[in-house]
Amino acid sequence: MRVLVTGGAGFIGSHTCVELLNHGYEAIVVDNLCNAKPDVMDRIEKICGKRPTFYCQDVCDREAMREIFAKEKPDAVIHFAGLKAVGESCSIPLRYYRNNLDSTLSLLECMQEFGCKKIVFSSSATVYGPYNPSPYVESMPVNTATNPYGWTKVFIEQILRDFAAADSELSVVNLRYFNPIGAHESGLLGDDPDGIPNNLMPYIVRVAAGQLEKLTIFGDDYDTPDGSCIRDYLHVVDLAKGHLKALEYASKHCGVEAVNLGTGRGQSVFELVEAFEKASGVKVNRIVGGRREGDLPAIWADTSKAEALLGWTADKTVEEMCADSWNFVNHK
Ligand code: NAD
Ligand code: WQD
Repeated sequence: MRVLVTGGAGFIGSHTCVELLNHGYEAIVVDNLCNAKPDVMDRIEKICGKRPTFYCQDVCDREAMREIFAKEKPDAVIHFAGLKAVGESCSIPLRYYRNNLDSTLSLLECMQEFGCKKIVFSSSATVYGPYNPSPYVESMPVNTATNPYGWTKVFIEQILRDFAAADSELSVVNLRYFNPIGAHESGLLGDDPDGIPNNLMPYIVRVAAGQLEKLTIFGDDYDTPDGSCIRDYLHVVDLAKGHLKALEYASKHCGVEAVNLGTGRGQSVFELVEAFEKASGVKVNRIVGGRREGDLPAIWADTSKAEALLGWTADKTVEEMCADSWNFVNHK
């Protein structure tokens, strides 16, 4: 099967390309490298002995995408491309709406024109918004986000539902990721944000590596067992494998499904820092600071649908996630 992977040079997309190539799929990556390094395809080749076909291209550019569809004739699409920094989305919302929505619309128009009927989309736990209690279940309402980034995911899920409602042959899987961390065990692929990281694990590894002075834990006065926020961290390789399960499902069924990809277990910020210290043997210099605006106290997934529908569960432990994140920063 020929799979067009938008955003395939990014953190989750690159790991998914490895799984695709290792399982006999052909991968065609379209990525404009706005948040990825040019050598990612070389790294994928080092791991798999094969490389994806690569187009350095903006997915928003519909004419360019038409040419790629005409040449490559993909059987399915996995749509990772998008901007993803929550804080930045509040300062430059129009850029987020333009990029995330236009890229999706140009992609779907090409799918329609070229008869490509299967799409797996990178949605997020953020679509559950501030009012649903954890564990999040797919049947909960998903019509409130707390930031422009989150709204792009809510809107795109709706666009995909409308797209599928108008074509009974379409198959759409909206995968709602929780908090992916970890890296490929080779140390060749991982999460390598430019500048100061927003997310917890990239921040922890940079403090441990001596590149940043200290971690600030955003609040220890939440109504949680140790006062810090709880999240459902999952290994990026488990997450990548979930995409293959979603593609298999989409090949056999039409219609739209939303599926949570998480472990179903929550870890506090303190617990994650301690697990990292245990796995790496390195102390993480930290202080407790105030709450970060917009953070919710506790988020974790109900994963029963992923298991029942896709036959997928996240297998890797928090220790493996921490060890692989640390291995990546030391190999870079
Ligand atoms: P990433 O930034 O590493 O990967 C996204 C890739 O898309 C990058 O390589 C970037 O260069 C590319 N891109 C962005 N806009 C593009 C465009 N218009 N045309 C072509 N390429 C473009 O992010 P990631 O962590 O791998 O996330 C992948 C997807 O999963 C995103 O849609 C993100 O919103 C979603 N997601 C991520 C997380 C997370 O915590 N990492 C959680 C939930 C959902
Ligand atoms: C995790 C926990 C922080 C940094 C974000 C997006 C979400 C999804 C995943 C895309 C929180 C705490 C963090 C730090 C800290 N992305 N923290 N000190 O906020 O759960 O989710 O990424 O869809 O939409 O919102 O992830 O890694 O930023 O934070 O104490 O320096 O770590 O308060 O409790 P978050 P995160």
